[in-house]
Amino acid sequence: MQLRQPLFLLSIITSSWHALADTTLFQSTDYSSGALGNGPFQTFKSSSSTPVMWNFIVPYNDSTAGQIEPGLIFLAPRGTDVKSPGPLIFDKSGDLIWDGTQYGQTLTFRMSTYKNESVILLWTGQIQASGVGFGYDLIINNKYEIIANFTADLDGGLADFHDIVITPNDTALITAYQPKTWDLISYNISDGWLLDSVFQEVDPSTGKALFTWEASDHVDVTSCYADPGSSGTSESNPWDFFHVNAVNKDNSGNYLISSRHCHTLYYIGPDGNIIWTIGGKNSSVTMNTNTGFAWQHDARWRNGGTQISLFDNAGTSWELDSSNSRGILLDYDQAGNSVSLNKEWIPFNITVSESQGNVGVLDSGNTVIGWGQIPYFSEYDANGQFLYVVQFGVGDVQSYRAYTFNWTGNPTTRPSVFVETDDSNTTIYASWNGATEVASWQLSGSTAESPQLAIPISNYSRSGFETTMAVTNSSTNFKYYQVAAFNSNKKIIAYSSFTASDGSSQDPAANQTIDSSNNGSGSDSGSSSSGSIQSTVWRGTVPLALTVLFILKTLI
Ligand SMILES: *[C@@H]1O[C@H](CO)[C@@H](O)[C@H](O)[C@H]1NC(C)=O
Ligand SMILES: *[C@@H]1O[C@H](CO)[C@@H](O)[C@H](O)[C@H]1NC(C)=O
Ligand SMILES: *[C@@H]1O[C@H](CO)[C@@H](O)[C@H](O)[C@H]1NC(C)=O
Ligand SMILES: *[C@@H]1O[C@H](CO)[C@@H](O)[C@H](O)[C@H]1NC(C)=O
Ligand SMILES: *[C@@H]1O[C@H](CO)[C@@H](O)[C@H](O)[C@H]1NC(C)=O
Ligand SMILES: *[C@@H]1O[C@H](CO)[C@@H](O)[C@H](O)[C@H]1NC(C)=O
Ligand SMILES: *[C@@H]1O[C@H](CO)[C@@H](O)[C@H](O)[C@H]1NC(C)=O
Ligand SMILES: *[C@@H]1O[C@H](CO)[C@@H](O)[C@H](O)[C@H]1NC(C)=O
Ligand SMILES: *[C@@H]1O[C@H](CO)[C@@H](O)[C@H](O)[C@H]1NC(C)=O
Ligand SMILES: *[C@@H]1O[C@H](CO)[C@@H](O)[C@H](O)[C@H]1NC(C)=O
Ligand SMILES: *[C@@H]1O[C@H](CO)[C@@H](O)[C@H](O)[C@H]1NC(C)=O
Ligand SMILES: *[C@@H]1O[C@H](CO)[C@@H](O)[C@H](O)[C@H]1NC(C)=O
Repeated sequence: MQLRQPLFLLSIITSSWHALADTTLFQSTDYSSGALGNGPFQTFKSSSSTPVMWNFIVPYNDSTAGQIEPGLIFLAPRGTDVKSPGPLIFDKSGDLIWDGTQYGQTLTFRMSTYKNESVILLWTGQIQASGVGFGYDLIINNKYEIIANFTADLDGGLADFHDIVITPNDTALITAYQPKTWDLISYNISDGWLLDSVFQEVDPSTGKALFTWEASDHVDVTSCYADPGSSGTSESNPWDFFHVNAVNKDNSGNYLISSRHCHTLYYIGPDGNIIWTIGGKNSSVTMNTNTGFAWQHDARWRNGGTQISLFDNAGTSWELDSSNSRGILLDYDQAGNSVSLNKEWIPFNITVSESQGNVGVLDSGNTVIGWGQIPYFSEYDANGQFLYVVQFGVGDVQSYRAYTFNWTGNPTTRPSVFVETDDSNTTIYASWNGATEVASWQLSGSTAESPQLAIPISNYSRSGFETTMAVTNSSTNFKYYQVAAFNSNKKIIAYSSFTASDGSSQDPAANQTIDSSNNGSGSDSGSSSSGSIQSTVWRGTVPLALTVLFILKTLI
């Protein structure tokens, strides 16, 4: 694990604010106060990426660094203060690994296994003001190629962004939202419209649904907590009574889903019938001390069906039910038909995150929590102590979830090179979006107009997303520069183009081919780190009629 020492970085801000490549801050009050802007971001010479910059609010130290889970951080920052919203992978020191913002802002973004390969799952599409989405789910392989693009198999419906889960049988569990007419006379709404919550099990290779469940078939629309307010009046303004946001399936063939607006987890059989419920107005499972939750996200089975983890938001935009959100781990006693609190994870700076959030309990016992609407994530050790807390924005910056995964990326693109010259020196900047296996770069120069011969100059250890290579006496005056990427086994895994300081470039020489078996030759790409909270003072009850006026972020 290579974690940067949190020593010198405060000075970067005050001295040379333009030097923002691979920059992470530690307990920077300039960052937290907004003096650096509401969405501080990094910049590079060899790439147009502008990923969020991290500020370790609770930094790791000598005693905690070794306990951080090896892996990379998956984050999908979005919000009006995010320079370029979309999926990003970082190492645990805050250096960019992959910029996937060409897919635009997204919610569900995670690693999984599909057909025995590690893959990225990513939703793309249109986010509606009502806090749901209509789009497509992508499965992306470790070369960053799309191997499946599918959506809901529903009349006029498209996949929503709240969840994508691949089952061990290579089927996908996805959410969808469907407007339908509904009798809402009891709410004084004539010609009522419901935004029904749907989940499906879909075969990604055919796009066909194997199972479809619609909440209104099984749950009385009056039994939840988000009344229509001013919604429910038309097809374009339907009432989202249920709000499904997580779906799981176990080996017995039953589903476990989370309804945010009903504060309830539903356990559902293959016939669609509800087997039991946890939470809400009429829990069929007995809830022991301190197990109650509200407006929750990311409910997951743990430990072979004996535990459930979830993110208890404990509030939404119009209602705060507690002083803080929390992650919780519940013990599920099937014989006793009850749940009890096993563990809770409290935010660093006590506050409620009114929407989004997730709880990633790792096999080691470490847990990474994404705080959703507020731009923090935290990693805790197995005893629930902070290992670190990262802030990744100040204003409207959010990430639906934050995860840590061991991801190996072998992009098919070439490394990118930028050449800067002055009278005596040349500086070369190299990066390779998505590559996890680069250990070092060999810099070569070429004088020829049509370069065939690459003359090795020097080797440089990879030093973040972008590695800077200084040639301090450029009297040799190469017209072109090229980098070759070495993996940890000292095998060349890629050549860049030959690039000149005027930006012109030529392809690698015909004999510069790489052996594809060099790829993925297993350097451990791991490193580590993670997140926290700020406090919301606002409290009170907002008239129901105002609920639909709340901005999108509060509804998700
Ligand atoms: C290291 O960080 C942890 C978590 O913030 C803290 O509890 C601990 O006191 C720190 N240890 C030292 C030696 O600073
Ligand atoms: C899955 O991949 C592993 C190695 O990545 C291999 O050993 C195993 O045989 C594969 N299983 C199947 C069912 O293809
Ligand atoms: C996924 O498929 C849809 C429908 O064909 C298409 O509109 C969309 O562009 C595809 N997405 C990507 C990223 O290729
Ligand atoms: C429906 O309207 C009637 C008459 O204005 C009012 O008394 C009643 O409280 C309303 N019901 C609801 C659910 O808003
Ligand atoms: C996978 O398929 C097997 C055989 O059809 C079935 O018994 C099992 O329940 C399925 N598992 C899941 C998670 O769907
Ligand atoms: C509460 O749930 C039980 C099933 O667990 C059901 O029989 C009962 O009708 C429900 N009560 C209400 C008021 O919905
Ligand atoms: C990543 O791999 C390392 C080494 O095998 C392992 O210790 C760690 O738990 C893995 N991390 C995750 C998030 O799976
Ligand atoms: C860079 O490292 C490789 C692999 O160890 C070596 O073969 C090569 O000679 C080095 N290049 C330079 C310029 O030192
Ligand atoms: C070139 O690099 C050397 C060594 O870093 C430095 O001393 C010198 O000032 C640089 N020259 C220019 C013109 O920047
Ligand atoms: C730069 O390289 C040239 C050619 O090799 C050499 O004559 C000159 O002394 C070098 N200058 C410095 C400052 O090293
Ligand atoms: C490519 O060919 C040139 C001359 O044709 C030769 O000098 C060079 O060593 C070759 N490069 C590689 C990587 O084989
Ligand atoms: C904690 O929250 C309070 C109240 O919002 C805020 O004033 C303070 O700066 C926060 N502290 C940190 C370290 O974020």
